[in-house]
Amino acid sequence: MSASVITVETKENASQNLIIQRPPVGLSLQGRIRVPGDKSISHRALMLGALSQGETEIQGLLLGEDPRSTASCFQAMGAEISELNTELVRVKGIGLGNLREPVDVLNAGNSGTTLRLMLGILASHPGGFFTVTGDDSLRSRPMSRVVKPLQQMGAQIWGRKNNSLAPLAIAGVALKPIHYQSPIASAQVKSCVLLAGLMTEGQTTVTEPALSRDHSERMLRAFGAKLSVDPDTNSVTVTGPAQLYGQKVVVPGDISSAAFWLVAGAIVPDSNLVVENVGVNPTRTGILEALAMMGADIQLENQREVAGEPVADLRVRSVRLQSCTIEGDLIPRLIDEIPILAVAAVFAEGTTVIKDAEELRVKESDRIAVMAQQLSKMGAKVTELPDGMEITGGTSLVGTDVDSHTDHRIAMSLAIASLVASGTTTIQRAEAAAISYPDFTATLQQVCR
Ligand code: S3P
Repeated sequence: MSASVITVETKENASQNLIIQRPPVGLSLQGRIRVPGDKSISHRALMLGALSQGETEIQGLLLGEDPRSTASCFQAMGAEISELNTELVRVKGIGLGNLREPVDVLNAGNSGTTLRLMLGILASHPGGFFTVTGDDSLRSRPMSRVVKPLQQMGAQIWGRKNNSLAPLAIAGVALKPIHYQSPIASAQVKSCVLLAGLMTEGQTTVTEPALSRDHSERMLRAFGAKLSVDPDTNSVTVTGPAQLYGQKVVVPGDISSAAFWLVAGAIVPDSNLVVENVGVNPTRTGILEALAMMGADIQLENQREVAGEPVADLRVRSVRLQSCTIEGDLIPRLIDEIPILAVAAVFAEGTTVIKDAEELRVKESDRIAVMAQQLSKMGAKVTELPDGMEITGGTSLVGTDVDSHTDHRIAMSLAIASLVASGTTTIQRAEAAAISYPDFTATLQQVCR
């Protein structure tokens, strides 16, 4: 087994090039690795901890930049959060309705989850005035999807482009309960409205067209909220006003981060890799179903339940992949994994079609356009569709200069593609990986050894 040469070059403006030189023969991925804590669960543990009475203990928190943004916003509103680490983070909650009015703008950085979930909390917090913003990417992402239902509840929110873009200003008021029929399957929209419902007297319901991740529902219940779920209609109802009580949260490894290694292990010949301690909540395992359709060899070992979330070790062995069609209700259950699935499709026999995924155009970057451009630069046959991509496998990739467009999942997907590209690939602005996976390069070096 020969090693890939992986180097990081830091430029004067602090942006980084990740340079990957694949050996001409003999690379295979072996060993047992762990991925960092789940990003969605990390955000929710910090937020609910801050809104609870008593202390919350979080084990396995993701130390990426996104949860750091959540922590600093809630610290600015009075929550006491111990130094962030993976061992044990203590959050001393201040209780629902007791947020301190922050003296400055709350900055959610790159994190859509921080901003959208927090809007539900702030809008329903009577008496407070709040301003929120984010980085260049977040300030261009649509907020009307959460502002609209909040306004139906009576929220007072102002912002650019008819209150649809951050920076936003919020005057917290007592809201009225609604039944919101969301036009999109989005856990951020669902969670925003449910969080607003916590402080609102009566029953607040969200119905979505397909089931999105249910971490909020699981955690809200565990923290003491009155919640009912109707699986037949994809509806969730919260009854307010609620009281939340501090809990112990154990954050499993993030399946969205594990996805990079699952695809790497599938496409790099002779690989046999185990990713330990991965959350396999059924609302998140669309990636396993898509890879199974492609013929991938992935085994779930040591399946168990940890603090209300299903967890397993995932073993992947390389095989020849087949094309498939990824569409419909599967999309919300693998939405963040589509960039790396596009890489898998490049190595699958036949034409893979990804559709019903227009949401990808409003993520940290336009992930349809960016993946199509960057993979095409490496020699892949990718056609952009308005709501997805068509990828014809079987072409050989050639290393070249590619760009993450400051999107963490694009940076990591291109790094995995480069393991099967000839020559040298340079991924520009690769530091974006730290949003959700600060140790990505170190683990890449470890598995390629
Ligand atoms: C998330 C929900 C998803 C996902 C994002 C995290 C969450 O976004 O893409 O990375 O934690 O609720 P949408 O709700 O916009 O689909």
